[in-house]
Amino acid sequence: MSETQPVIPTLKYATRRTFLKNTAFGGMVAVSGILGSSLSGFGRTAPIHINPLKIPPQDSGTKEGATTVYNLNVENSTTEFVNQIRTSTRGINGSYLGPTLRLKDGENIKINVKNSIGETTTLHWHGLHLPASEDGGPHQPIKNGETRASQFQVKQKAASFWYHSHQLHKTAEHVWQGLAGMIIVDDAESDALDLPREYGVDDIPVVLQDRIFANDGQMYYDPSRHDRMMGMVGNTPFANGTISAFIEAKTKLIRLRILNGSNASTYNLGFSDNRPFAQIGSDGGLLEAPYQTNNITLAPGERAEIVVDASGNENFILQSRSSGGTGGMGMGMMRRGMMGGGGSENFNFLEIRPSENLKASSTLPAKLTTIEPLAPSSAVNTRRFMLEMAMGPMMMLGFGNTHTINDRAMKMNRIDEVVAKNSIEIWELGNTSQIPHPFHIHDVQFQILDRGGRPPHPGERGLKDTVLINPGEMVRVIAKFSEYSDPNIPYMYHCHILEHEDAGMMGQFTVV
Ligand code: C2O
Ligand code: CU
Ligand code: CU
Repeated sequence: MSETQPVIPTLKYATRRTFLKNTAFGGMVAVSGILGSSLSGFGRTAPIHINPLKIPPQDSGTKEGATTVYNLNVENSTTEFVNQIRTSTRGINGSYLGPTLRLKDGENIKINVKNSIGETTTLHWHGLHLPASEDGGPHQPIKNGETRASQFQVKQKAASFWYHSHQLHKTAEHVWQGLAGMIIVDDAESDALDLPREYGVDDIPVVLQDRIFANDGQMYYDPSRHDRMMGMVGNTPFANGTISAFIEAKTKLIRLRILNGSNASTYNLGFSDNRPFAQIGSDGGLLEAPYQTNNITLAPGERAEIVVDASGNENFILQSRSSGGTGGMGMGMMRRGMMGGGGSENFNFLEIRPSENLKASSTLPAKLTTIEPLAPSSAVNTRRFMLEMAMGPMMMLGFGNTHTINDRAMKMNRIDEVVAKNSIEIWELGNTSQIPHPFHIHDVQFQILDRGGRPPHPGERGLKDTVLINPGEMVRVIAKFSEYSDPNIPYMYHCHILEHEDAGMMGQFTVV
């Protein structure tokens, strides 16, 4: 397979071709879509991005008796990310990524997943509370040509979730190729709130990823040994599979449902003009109250719902800045320096262009929901999980396990932990390695008790299923493992850097 090259030259060339056809943007060629947008000047700023953000179609299923049925086909395809260049991709009911599944709390659903990609895969419903047999994890593989149904009742607070391939040792590759999509759950409580809710207009799903294109326009999944150690980090930002994406804001308030769907990059997100925004939701639900900030860190697997006021003449860009970082060293430095990946580049994801006459929006409700805190005293058990990376020369040569939890690499036939049904537990999540790892637990939404002994910051005081563990840090989370039990079929917990998961930084628990 060919050496992967930075896409920036490719993109510049492609961009220039686009500009030739699109004289309206004249002059902005050099910087388009890449780094350091200079949004200065007078009056309305010139647009910088060139492609309308793709909005994944919504799929609300079809009623069959008391069940809402969704039909998904996992397929091979090609996608034109860059003008006139067809890139081989995989998607769900489409060429890259999949539809946004729209679920209602309380409804009985059945999701038929047909696999047409020529090799075994599976789709996992990330963040949802469901029986282990319906989880779509590595124990529910779907062979090529076969269809498997996941059937369960939605028991979830309104939030943004997602689905993605979870095929053992293949998750990173399959997600890289496009096998992921968003899930939006609605509930009665949030339906009654005056929040922006017009899908694709003022309520916008934004799947953030980064990819690398080879000179032939293909997105090979061809990780080096270093990429396998550190995680595959791209140099080209994707928003819903759109490079150089923009949206036109027609209303004053715009709600973005942001998913970090990357393989390995932690994004340090904010707007190019540093304008403030409100975070209203975390992984598994709305926050109790909007949290005003101008910066949010999202690790792979995490979601945040934010609402931004688009007022003003200026276009502005949702971007990830490499300087932020949450670990002991700057992410950019880790990416470029000897520590390698796990961080992120500077990425311009999405330009927002306010239209001349923004429609008024109602002000955000002061109270969004109630989150009953789980008391540490109610926990019947405490477990500790240490995330480890072995980086010795023997490991780099492929001897021994490089990525482990509590010294063990994932084994399909070994149950690591057994949790009593309906019990509340505290899980202590530690990290002995040099880079941050996002820890994800299936089936539950947990609450963060503390991070390094300190209370979680406001954006993390909601329901979570994935949490970033910085080097040397201990994060304590608490969860109730309610309702479903199965002595034979486990749920997973793992690092959501997909290369780490595939390399063994994953374990299994049953609820009995
Ligand atoms: Cu997002 Cu085990 O998965
Ligand atoms: Cu999951
Ligand atoms: Cu990891």
